[in-house]
Amino acid sequence: MSEFINTIINDDTFKALKKIPSNSIDIGITSPPYNKGEKNKGWLVKNVLYDSIIDSVDESTYQNNQINVLNELFRVIKPGGSFFYNHKIRWEKGIMFHPVEWILKTKWTLRQEIIWDRMIAANIRGWRFWQIDERIYWLYKPINNNKIGEELLSKHSLLTSIWRFPPERQNPHPAPFPIELPARIIHSLTNNSDAIVIDPYSGSGTTLVAAKLLDKNYIGIEISKEYIEFSKERLINSQSEYRKLKEEIDKHFVAKTFKERKEKGENTGKHNKNQLSKRDFFNNPLTLFDLSKNDITN
Ligand SMILES: C[S@@+](CC[C@H](N)C(=O)[O-])C[C@H]1O[C@@H](n2cnc3c(N)ncnc32)[C@H](O)[C@@H]1O
Repeated sequence: MSEFINTIINDDTFKALKKIPSNSIDIGITSPPYNKGEKNKGWLVKNVLYDSIIDSVDESTYQNNQINVLNELFRVIKPGGSFFYNHKIRWEKGIMFHPVEWILKTKWTLRQEIIWDRMIAANIRGWRFWQIDERIYWLYKPINNNKIGEELLSKHSLLTSIWRFPPERQNPHPAPFPIELPARIIHSLTNNSDAIVIDPYSGSGTTLVAAKLLDKNYIGIEISKEYIEFSKERLINSQSEYRKLKEEIDKHFVAKTFKERKEKGENTGKHNKNQLSKRDFFNNPLTLFDLSKNDITN
């Protein structure tokens, strides 16, 4: 196992995972290729074309491959560990493919569906409202069949289930994460510095750079030698990305817990019908809970 720590394995994901011992990794984060067909579907930006693979197979083959990869990841992650799987809803000839269809066929417990609001996206054809969201599935490996697991600290859980990160633009890889995304996950879910973070489709190495900057170990898997070389450069120069990562970490902050507010007789968000009309509420629901920046998060 030690030979893989803080390295990027240049191989097919499924084959590489087979070499990793069971119950050895704390957490994983990935965005796999989406089987987008590589057809010209968007007008706004160029299509995602990878260096070493063709992202186009029969959809049932694709979903079965993803199920096999996710089940191998379930084997290598420790009980009580998590895997964050980024994907999106796709359509082919009007038929929707929703990631939950195959996620529910894996061994994982689906703990949460997070909306990633990217604020912009390539496809602006009018078949549907402009799809600018992707999804992030928090998958959990239960301990002794307890599917609930531990609570997040409130400084993390107050960040809500809608994550607004614009796409990364400074990176030549065709589909990179913004570094804030893996940073949010690693910072919220790991507190031991010997934790191991895996990204089984590591691309330009964003997850690995975030892990390194947060003082964790990492393992990447990537089929393209070119992307691995680029990732290695990034890892060497990781300090240059620290400022961006730090902006994310600074968002994990609670000035006062609900318990402290209650004890001091301050607003805990309890509805006071004399305070606001229904109309006020629908115009700005957050005012009801008095979630001003200084109050709860910053
Ligand atoms: C969506 S990208 C990941 C981007 C990454 N999150 C980042 O921040 O750069 C998916 C990556 O999976 C790689 N890939 C595709 N099929 C693979 C396979 N069978 N085995 C290993 N890597 C693969 C592609 O080369 C691509 O870099």
